[in-house]
Amino acid sequence: MADVYLYDRLMDYANSGVYPFHMPGHKLGRGLDSFPLLKLDLTEIREMDNLYEPNDVIAKAQELMAKTFGADESLFLVNGSTTGVISAILGVCNPKDELIIARNSHYSTYHGMILGDIIPRYINPQVIDEYGLLGGISPKNVQKAIEDYPKAKAVFITSPTYEGFTSNISEIARITHNSNKLLIVDEAHGAHFNFHSAFPKTALSCGADIVIQSLHKTLPALTQSALIHFKGNRFDKNRVKQIVKMIQTSSPSYILMGMMDLLRNYLDERKNNGFDTYIENLINLREKLNELTRIKLLGEELNNNYSIEEIDISRLVFYTGRSNKTGIDIDKILRDSYKIQMEMSSEVHFVGISTIVDSIEAFNSLYNALISIDKELMINEEKTDTYNIIYPISTIKSSPREAFYSIKKSLPLEDARGRISGESVVLYPPGIPILSPGEEITKIHIEQIARRIKQKRTIDVIG
Ligand SMILES: Cc1ncc(COP(=O)(O)O)c(C=O)c1O
Repeated sequence: MADVYLYDRLMDYANSGVYPFHMPGHKLGRGLDSFPLLKLDLTEIREMDNLYEPNDVIAKAQELMAKTFGADESLFLVNGSTTGVISAILGVCNPKDELIIARNSHYSTYHGMILGDIIPRYINPQVIDEYGLLGGISPKNVQKAIEDYPKAKAVFITSPTYEGFTSNISEIARITHNSNKLLIVDEAHGAHFNFHSAFPKTALSCGADIVIQSLHKTLPALTQSALIHFKGNRFDKNRVKQIVKMIQTSSPSYILMGMMDLLRNYLDERKNNGFDTYIENLINLREKLNELTRIKLLGEELNNNYSIEEIDISRLVFYTGRSNKTGIDIDKILRDSYKIQMEMSSEVHFVGISTIVDSIEAFNSLYNALISIDKELMINEEKTDTYNIIYPISTIKSSPREAFYSIKKSLPLEDARGRISGESVVLYPPGIPILSPGEEITKIHIEQIARRIKQKRTIDVIG
């Protein structure tokens, strides 16, 4: 169509025959094509209830959602986990409160801290030196942070990580609750965990107080569909709800809410053995992918190592540091020569997201493509020192809010050493800031940012 850009591009992709190992989890509408989405696009007329004062069908749908996910109460979110993350932080912390937070958190947490004038006390995840990737958060580090910052209001952990690595949430919850603090878990990538025993345990079942999940990342749900779950009485739920109402649209999409209700029913129907065929196919695929000699599928050998409790087997994480090509190169070959699009790639790895709607045929084509590519690769004898992402121990010179509202100065990257960052510099995906507002800029930050610019990776500078 003349003068239509984005729409045409979307339709071209939809019709291209490319297979998506990326979000959203419905994989270009597989299984959803028969639903009359436009007819669901309504507003708060009499019989449609109201998301922010629910007492009829939305209340019932949310009640069933809580039951399905093992929460005391669950709320629909129509702006992704971002809304849930910010609402949890603002709902629990007052201005100037300290928050113990994993440094590998998504940038929405940093925005929450700017909005709420919260003082971060960062804990770093363990680095998997062998692969240059981030592992889990050690409960010992949580314990130490609580001892160092006894006034902190809550602990905020991302589990699973973008690569599907979970931390020991049961132990972290025990430690956190022993000190009368709250545990918030960003489980944006783990909404599917409750539906098969082959997946890691859910944060709710491990004792977290507030859990946020994106349904669209790993389940057949529309983009922006997400949930915030509450468990127990250690915090004021009404205050979190008030914040959700403040930061989210006053016109929540009934398409998203209606389809989340339908998804809940779909999950209830599959709770016992409905995921079995998918899991069987996935396990077979993972076993067959062990034939790869240059590319390596990361697997269960990581469980109980690097502070990782369990890996999520649905996340296909391929390490490429042993080969003569980067993850970015292989991602490109998959797309250009095999019509397979992965979720993300870096110098040392590439990641695919699989969900229940992936068929055995989709898995077979991924397997065949990777076997052919692997055969053409050479072994790289040199140890790769290209970490995907690492964080120096942060020196916090001012709160994220103070840094954000300060008068800022633009400097060439190489002259920024020793200055305080006024903004976040975020590599996307996975959306974790390399540099966050209020942090002192070090040589390591500068090197990491310079390397990414050289590689032409997408870097967002977010104020
Ligand atoms: C760990 C994590 N938390 C939160 C979010 C935000 O989720 P959403 O895009 O659903 O708003 C993301 C998005 O990628 C994420 O990776």
